[in-house]
Amino acid sequence: MRKTVEDYITTIPDYPEPGIMFRDITSVLQDAEGFHLAIDEMIRLLDGLDFDVVCGAESRGFVFGAPIAYALGKPFVLVRKAGKLPRETVRQSYELEYGQATVEMHTDSIRPGQRVVLVDDLIATGGTIEASAKLVERLGGQVSKIIFLMELAGLKGRERLARYDVDSVVIYP
Ligand code: PRP
Ligand code: ADE
Repeated sequence: MRKTVEDYITTIPDYPEPGIMFRDITSVLQDAEGFHLAIDEMIRLLDGLDFDVVCGAESRGFVFGAPIAYALGKPFVLVRKAGKLPRETVRQSYELEYGQATVEMHTDSIRPGQRVVLVDDLIATGGTIEASAKLVERLGGQVSKIIFLMELAGLKGRERLARYDVDSVVIYP
């Protein structure tokens, strides 16, 4: 039978700490068919959507966002962890399970009114992508859609993103 994206994802129990089921994408990427399938399935989530820019969250969001942008002939914009972008930026801090993190975008990376698709490999609590969406909006962009390869539904990240159109290829309970 034909393999699905889920078949290529590896789950590592108790990594990086007890109780976490780590959903590993490297087993998807290191198989040419798996990688192709993952990108194709994510692109399928964008069927019929009119938009201007793909924006990916560091670092696993780059792995999926860049090929999607390339395949669809769109520009690709980076949301980076703080301190990595060389020109003028906007910053947004957010809460992690323990502590805080900050993400940044170049101020000229989105023009006012541009319709943006946000991409990441996975949604857990939703903090990373919510902060990314806020940055896009602070730059005057509109978040047209947010897509993930994987969604950890039990962590209810989607509830934080209630005002956005959100879709995922693989949903874990
Ligand atoms: C992981 C993942 C998402 C985020 C999901 O990235 O790639 O970006 O966490 O978690 P959240 O929904 O609770 O915010 P991580 O910060 O581990 O960085 P990496 O992609 O560089 O490994
Ligand atoms: N990032 C946050 N939670 C994760 C998980 N369970 N698997 C892989 N990446 C993650």
